[in-house]
Amino acid sequence: MVVDQINERFRELKRRGKKIASLTAYDYPTGRLLDESGVEIILVGDSLGMVVLGYEDTTRVTLDEMLHHTRAVARGVKQALLVADLPIHTYDTPEQAVTTAKKLVQAGAQAVKLEGGVNHVPQIEAITHAGIPFMAHIGMLPQSVREEGGYKVKGKTQSEAEALMADARAVEKAGAFSIVLEIVLADLAKQITAAVEIPTIGIGSGEHCDGQILVTHDLIGLFPWFTPKFVAQEAHVADEIRRAARAFIERTKNGPLMSNRGEQG
Ligand code: KIV
Repeated sequence: MVVDQINERFRELKRRGKKIASLTAYDYPTGRLLDESGVEIILVGDSLGMVVLGYEDTTRVTLDEMLHHTRAVARGVKQALLVADLPIHTYDTPEQAVTTAKKLVQAGAQAVKLEGGVNHVPQIEAITHAGIPFMAHIGMLPQSVREEGGYKVKGKTQSEAEALMADARAVEKAGAFSIVLEIVLADLAKQITAAVEIPTIGIGSGEHCDGQILVTHDLIGLFPWFTPKFVAQEAHVADEIRRAARAFIERTKNGPLMSNRGEQG
């Protein structure tokens, strides 16, 4: 069964101490470029609501939007495991979670992710029992940002740390093949990583996780209006786009234009 195969593949990576690199993609060229670069996991994250669609947060993202972008990314991905997010209010019950997960799989995802731990065990079990590999997401949950009043570090109090540890154990037992830990205190992320046999994939959760994930737009500087503190930018693509656009404007207005005789290609 594919759920068991993927589960075993990721447990084996952890046992062998192989760190897992994961990035987000929302379109065909990015999916293809990341795949060719060798990342193990490509996530069509609902962060697309912010960095692609211009929403304030992820709470407006619809399933149709997720399906549209998942199809585009899937056309470019051959090697990496393609995971897609269940958007908010598409997994309020286990039945709804399975229906949504199946639609994402039909769109090309090989696994799905939703936000939540202990409180979503019935949904996670329903998804894995339906034969769909599942990636968990605990810690700071962006779909709850409005109730939380911001993107806050998780695990600062004893009770929060205990709850997160319980979440991690619960999602592992429910069949998840890995756990995204978002903005969790580094020391707690280390303890959770030691306590479970499936890999933890950190985002802003320190260096002791079994892998790391970032929003690609943050990594490559394509969303220059806000970059989380924990991101080490590797490129400045927004600057390049501005430079190219200015060069084009300059050439259009003042020349010289490229000469061509009207042929294509
Ligand atoms: O939506 C997303 O991109 C995510 C990652 C940041 C983990 O959930």
